[in-house]
Amino acid sequence: MHLGRTTLSKFLIQQLRGGDDERDLAALLVDIAAAVKAISSMTSKGALAGVLGSREATNVQGETQKKLDVLSDQAFINTFQLGGLTAGLASEENDQPMVFEPSPGEVNGRRYLAVFDPLDGSSNIDVNVSVGSIFSIIRAPKGRRVKPEDFLQSGARQLAAGYAIYGPSTMLVLSVGQGTHGFTLDREVGNFILTHRDIQIPTQTSEFAINTSNARFWEPPVLRYVEECQAGRTGPRERDFNMRWIASMVADVHRILMRGGVFMYPRDTKDPSKPGRLRLMYEANPMAMVVEQAGGLAITGRERSLDIAPEAIHQRVPVILGSKEEVDRIARYHQAFDTGTDEQYRSPLFKDRSLFQE
Ligand code: F6P
Ligand code: MN
Repeated sequence: MHLGRTTLSKFLIQQLRGGDDERDLAALLVDIAAAVKAISSMTSKGALAGVLGSREATNVQGETQKKLDVLSDQAFINTFQLGGLTAGLASEENDQPMVFEPSPGEVNGRRYLAVFDPLDGSSNIDVNVSVGSIFSIIRAPKGRRVKPEDFLQSGARQLAAGYAIYGPSTMLVLSVGQGTHGFTLDREVGNFILTHRDIQIPTQTSEFAINTSNARFWEPPVLRYVEECQAGRTGPRERDFNMRWIASMVADVHRILMRGGVFMYPRDTKDPSKPGRLRLMYEANPMAMVVEQAGGLAITGRERSLDIAPEAIHQRVPVILGSKEEVDRIARYHQAFDTGTDEQYRSPLFKDRSLFQE
């Protein structure tokens, strides 16, 4: 029974007291929570609802669309369009952003733009492994129609960001720039309850997450870091490390918020046309805000994720995030490699330093 505990709505009313603008942001986050509840209900029915499996189509990224990708996308689009608070949206599933005109009689302006990944890690749906939704809220231009370029704001300008995880329980984890907080869905009553106030990622960790099947495509600094972790007690780190890879970014990042760790989808040479796997606007940026607000760090290897100037809605970037001390270490390894000061590191797998350099 949760009577007397803090609901998401109460929490947002108390955190966002700065006038009309903040009141609308709180209302928008409550709308997002409603979409999340609808998606949580669909995902939890699994095979019973007939929503598993793929469609014929691929999305703008060339990935096969799952039925639930499209249903989740539609849930968010309806929420943002009908909710009257967003002037436009951009989604992983749609090539171009959508722009909304105010309807007659709308009281408040549409002050925000929403960018989202409606169902992250959707390859895990058919095997009943945790998936999630990721969202980012930025400011819409005032007094004119939204243009596609208006979405290209750096992550540091996000007003709110977060994710929902559809796991054994459904959780909403978000930040409005005043810490990162987690809410657990009470399914019977339909309320999100504040269960994880002011989440802090431990600064040190002995756990890393990376898809090691890509090892032969990595850059030397990433290979160095992972090899040192794997060497454990007998290597330079002088302690054993553990490895996890769920292949749902939401689930991997959630674990890191709960108990520390490092998540990496680094730059690699697998497909030279792609500088990373994950998308800046609706994967890297919102997760970077949530992680930084929880005392962690998020970088590409060479720069802070939140400082990247976006060039395209579906732009991909390398992502390295999590416990502060480990991410700092990986940044140092990149710098040492780039400046040629990592002479002491000799990987048997990596004799040629020039693989990534002209
Ligand atoms: O959205 C992309 C994504 O599904 C992430 O959720 C996840 O971290 C990653 O791709 C998994 O990639 P891979 O299948 O290469 O391990
Ligand atoms: Mn995704």
